[in-house]
Amino acid sequence: MRSSFLQVLAALLAAAPAMQALGQSSLGGQGYVDLSVKGAAPKHLGAGILYGVPNDAAYTPDKAPVLPSDLFNGAGINVVRAGGAQIKAYPGFVSSLEGYKGRFNSTLQNYRYARAHGAQFVLLPHDLWGADSFNAAAKVYPCDNGNCDLYGKFLDQLISDLKSNDMLFGMHIDIWNEPDIQGFWPRSQDQWIQQYNYAYRKYRAALGPQVLLQGPTTSSQPNSGNVWWQKFGANIKANPDVQPDIYSFHQLQGRKAANCGNDPVVSVQGLEDVKKAHGLPDRPVQINEYAGSDEQTPAYSAWFLERFERSGAWGQRANWGMWHGLHNDMAKLVGGADQGAFYKLGDWHVYHYYTQVQRGVVARAGATGSNCYDLYATQEPDSGLIHILAGTRGQTGAYPVVVSSLGSVAAFKGKTSLRVLVNEIPYNGGGRVDGPVTVSHADVAVVDDKLTVNLDMKLDSAYTIDISVPPAAAAR
Ligand SMILES: *[C@@H]1O[C@H](CO)[C@@H](O)[C@H](O)[C@H]1NC(C)=O
Repeated sequence: MRSSFLQVLAALLAAAPAMQALGQSSLGGQGYVDLSVKGAAPKHLGAGILYGVPNDAAYTPDKAPVLPSDLFNGAGINVVRAGGAQIKAYPGFVSSLEGYKGRFNSTLQNYRYARAHGAQFVLLPHDLWGADSFNAAAKVYPCDNGNCDLYGKFLDQLISDLKSNDMLFGMHIDIWNEPDIQGFWPRSQDQWIQQYNYAYRKYRAALGPQVLLQGPTTSSQPNSGNVWWQKFGANIKANPDVQPDIYSFHQLQGRKAANCGNDPVVSVQGLEDVKKAHGLPDRPVQINEYAGSDEQTPAYSAWFLERFERSGAWGQRANWGMWHGLHNDMAKLVGGADQGAFYKLGDWHVYHYYTQVQRGVVARAGATGSNCYDLYATQEPDSGLIHILAGTRGQTGAYPVVVSSLGSVAAFKGKTSLRVLVNEIPYNGGGRVDGPVTVSHADVAVVDDKLTVNLDMKLDSAYTIDISVPPAAAAR
C-alpha cells in the first residue's frame, strides 16, 4: 500500500513539470494544425438553421420585421428548414384548409427569403399538417387505421402549391420530423413506415428527382441498437425505390451528454454501422437539428462546426424559440426582432468567422487527448493567411495550439516570427455581442518550423487565431 502510494506520488511529481512544459490542457490535450496537409475549399457544412426567419403569417395580425440581409449572409447561412410551425392563427391542415394556407404562406415567404439569399430550403410537411407538438388540434395523423386518403389530399394540395409557386429549385422535403417522439408522431412504427413510403412515392412521382427527399429524421442518433433505424433500414432495403436522397437525424442531447458526447462524428459512425448491417447505399448526411438549448454558446457552436467538418455531415442549428419567437432570431444567432432593431449574438460571430473569414483551403487540424476540444483551420496559401477556429464543450483554462510546417506556406519561408491575432468570441450570457474581443496581437517566434499559441479559455467562449507575415517583414 505504502510503497505504491509513494510510487504514485513520485509519478505525479515527475509528471507535473513535464505537463507544464508541454502546456497541456486540464484534460491533457493540445490543439494542432499541420499546414503541410491541405484539403479542399470549405463547404460550410454546419451553417444551416431551423426556422428563425421572420414572416408575416407568424406575426398575424401584424407584419413581421424584415431580417437584414447582412445578418443572414454575414453568418453565411446556406440552408433554412421550415414549414410554418407554431402559428396559432393557422393550426395547419388538420384544422382546415385555411389553417394550412396560413402555414403555407409562412413557408413560401421563408423559401423566397432563403432563395433570394443563396440558401437551400428544407421543407417540413409535418408542420403544414399541424403536427408541431404544440397543436391540440392535431388528433389525426397520416394513414390512421391504414387509410392514407386524407394524407393523399394533403400531399396533392402541397405538391400543387409547390409547383404553382415555383418552389422546386433548391428544395428538399423532410418527409416526417422526429417520428420517434410522441409529440410529433403518437402512432406506431409500422404506420410511420407506411406514411413514409406513401409520401415518398407521391413526391417522387409528382416532382421528379430534382426535389431531394430525406429521412428518417429521428430525434435519436443512428446506431445498430436503435429500433427506429432498424425498422427504417429494413424497409429501404426491401423497397429500394424509397431510399432517401439524404440520411437525416438530430443531435440534441445537451451539454450534459456524457464524455463530451452529442457528437456528430460518433453519430456518423453509428450510421455507418446501420448501413453495413442492412446493406444500405452511401448518401449525404444531414443532421438537421443540432445543439441543445444549453449548447448554443460560442464555444459549443464552434465545436459543433468543427465536428461537422470532421464528419462530413451537413448541419442545421436547432431552434428553441416558441410561437413567433421560433421565427425571428436565426436560431439564436441574432436578437432584437421585437425591440425594433436586430443585433448580433456571440454565436453569430462564430458563423461569420467560419463562413466569411475562413477562406482558402482546409488545413489539417484537430485536438489530441480529448474530444471535448476541436479545431477547424483554413489557409490562403497565396497570401499566407491562416485562420483557426477553436471550440470546446465547456472547457476552461490553458489550451496550447501548435501550428506546424510553417515553411510549407511560401510566404512564411525563412521567417523567424509571424504576426498572430488571437480573438475571443464571448457568450455574454446570451446577450448582444457587437464583435470579437482582441486577446493578443503580437509577433510570435517560429521555432523548429512551428509556433505555439497559448489560449486561456473561458467557459462558453470561442477563440480565433489568425496568422500572417508581420507587416514590417512584409514591406521588406
Ligand atoms: C396567403 O397569401 C395569399 C397571397 O398573398 C393571400 O391571398 C391569402 O389570403 C393568404 N392566406 C392566409 C390564410 O393567410
